[in-house]
Amino acid sequence: MKTLTDTYKLHNGVLMPKIGFGTWQVPSGDIAYESVAMALKNGYRHIDTAAAYRNEASVGQAIRDSKIPREEIFVTSKLQSHIKSYDETLKAFDQTMIELGLDYLDLYLIHAPWPWNEIGKDCREGNIQAYKAMEKIYKSGRVKAIGVSNFDVKDLKNIMDNCEIVPHANQIAFFIGNNQEETDKFCKEHNILVEAYSPLAIGYALSNEHIIKMAEKYQKTPAQICIRYCIEKGTAPLPKSTKEHRIVENSQVDFKMDKKDIEFLDTIKDDPRKWN
Ligand code: A2P
Repeated sequence: MKTLTDTYKLHNGVLMPKIGFGTWQVPSGDIAYESVAMALKNGYRHIDTAAAYRNEASVGQAIRDSKIPREEIFVTSKLQSHIKSYDETLKAFDQTMIELGLDYLDLYLIHAPWPWNEIGKDCREGNIQAYKAMEKIYKSGRVKAIGVSNFDVKDLKNIMDNCEIVPHANQIAFFIGNNQEETDKFCKEHNILVEAYSPLAIGYALSNEHIIKMAEKYQKTPAQICIRYCIEKGTAPLPKSTKEHRIVENSQVDFKMDKKDIEFLDTIKDDPRKWN
């Protein structure tokens, strides 16, 4: 599949395959191992995990066991959201690399601007400290790119005003009905690649009548419309499934959508997680 090997170029020249395989909520052990192994077997070359998913060890094992040359796979992990100091970030990165059993990461992200159990907390200084530690790791060559996740415009500006390296990527919840126009526009203006997590709105988008109609028009599945939409918007979708037929289905998105259809999908402003 061409879309599995097509790449985006980050602003430092690093290439990221356009579709990544997500592993959020994929349980550690056999399920995470088998899912990643199936994704790699079916051509995915971009795998996304996080310390908070607690499946880095299984994900890393599947990557190593695949025998695919390391440089052919783009691997992302994330700093846990409660870690907001320089030294703790360096330590957490070392732990992530032990868990994964890899020599380097392709992308390392601050998982969220605040701890998940304190959403909205002002962690400006902590984010600066964590990001400075990530800049140090980046300069050491142990990560090829650094960035953030779940950051809005003010969170991004805080990093850009106080740190050296403009984030290479911002991974956000992005799907039809939640295309985060303001953040997306700001990221595009500053060459920050937007990665789209939950491109299927954790599955809820698949029963939306507009998306079903669009799927009929293009002779595709609703999931393929959702994933293609992300690519048409210039973002890197990170679909996830534990079932091989869906892992394959989600990668078969080598088709173009008409501009007017994308514009129509842009007008859907309800978060589909609330539709059902
Ligand atoms: P499963 O693992 O049973 O396939 P998102 O990526 O937006 O978070 O959505 C993930 C959810 O959507 C998971 O529950 C996954 O379940 C389901 N899913 C993934 N791909 C498909 C697909 N092609 N068709 C239907 N459901 C899918």
